[in-house]
Amino acid sequence: MQADALLTWFAHNQRRLPWRNDPSPYAVLVSELMLQQTRVDTVLDYFNRWLARWPTVADLAQASQSDVLAMWTGLGYYNRARNLHAAAQAVMAQHGGAMPADEPSLRALPGLGPYTVGAVRSIAFGQPAALVDGNVARVLSRWTAFAGDPSQPKGRNHIWRVAEAWLLEPLPHAAPGAWNQALMELGATVCTPRSPSCGRCPVAAHCEAHAQGRAQAIPPVRQKAAAQLVRAAYAVIIADDGALVGVADSEPRVLLGKRPDDVRWAGLWEPPGVEGVDCLDVLNARLRAQGLEPGVPLGPIVHILTHRRYEVLAVPVRCPADQLPSLAAFDYAEVRVQAVSQALGKESGLSRLAQKLLATVV
Ligand code: ADE
Repeated sequence: MQADALLTWFAHNQRRLPWRNDPSPYAVLVSELMLQQTRVDTVLDYFNRWLARWPTVADLAQASQSDVLAMWTGLGYYNRARNLHAAAQAVMAQHGGAMPADEPSLRALPGLGPYTVGAVRSIAFGQPAALVDGNVARVLSRWTAFAGDPSQPKGRNHIWRVAEAWLLEPLPHAAPGAWNQALMELGATVCTPRSPSCGRCPVAAHCEAHAQGRAQAIPPVRQKAAAQLVRAAYAVIIADDGALVGVADSEPRVLLGKRPDDVRWAGLWEPPGVEGVDCLDVLNARLRAQGLEPGVPLGPIVHILTHRRYEVLAVPVRCPADQLPSLAAFDYAEVRVQAVSQALGKESGLSRLAQKLLATVV
């Protein structure tokens, strides 16, 4: 196993990423949570804005949950943001504001699984802690020509054991953080899922799968479970200020509800909506019960998540600004009216789907 070839390659070819300039435990935690399920290119801007707004654990712990969710607008998997916020509060309450370095304490923080704990320990604290994400699993599977499936529990355990053994054995002097990041970087940029660039791989000469001509076939392609289809209809209710005297120049504003706790997209804002096969009829009936006239539905807008495919209709509704409905028929924790340009902005706290709906109507 040629550690040096990979580490030398990493030293020269790594992407310059802001969290690599400042691998403080907090910056590493923020970046690693953002990077789960999200591409590096997307994360860069979010990471920089986050650190500018909340430079320390203490700053984040004091933020409101709505500000935290608003900052996460568009990154998806919003539990990551809730957990990061709760973890900062736990670090303040239980560790005097200093991120712990030991495994049990890190594991006890909300949202930190084995991967994130390994990342914080190795990258921020220089401890010999292994980590396995999708990239590492693929790289190590190919390197060892592992025939199993690392996305399944048995295969995953096997790859974790390989990662731990390789980190400890041949690397007595190398930085564990560099090693782990080099594996991830190789997976992200060279040892890619479909057509790996073995011709420019620093460890191709030692790679078992490459030697066997099976790099593409390892790991086996996973059968994807069929996505669940969700139909929904949303009313984009625009406050019609034209009816008011003296506000002719005002921007269009839209009526939004905040999703309650304990549901998908908890705490995020959206136009009032209904899910289900008869969603359009139910939505229109609710609108008419409030004296509103639903417009012709636009769409369907398709929004794809890992396990769900949303096909949604956007129902445009115009309403005099002083007669906006209460939304009592919907299950929202709060209601607000917001300028459309703000609602479409970066830190609005709307779900991505909600922003797509607005963009379709205005
Ligand atoms: N993906 C997630 N975390 C990463 C890191 N620290 N370096 C490279 N790729 C990553």
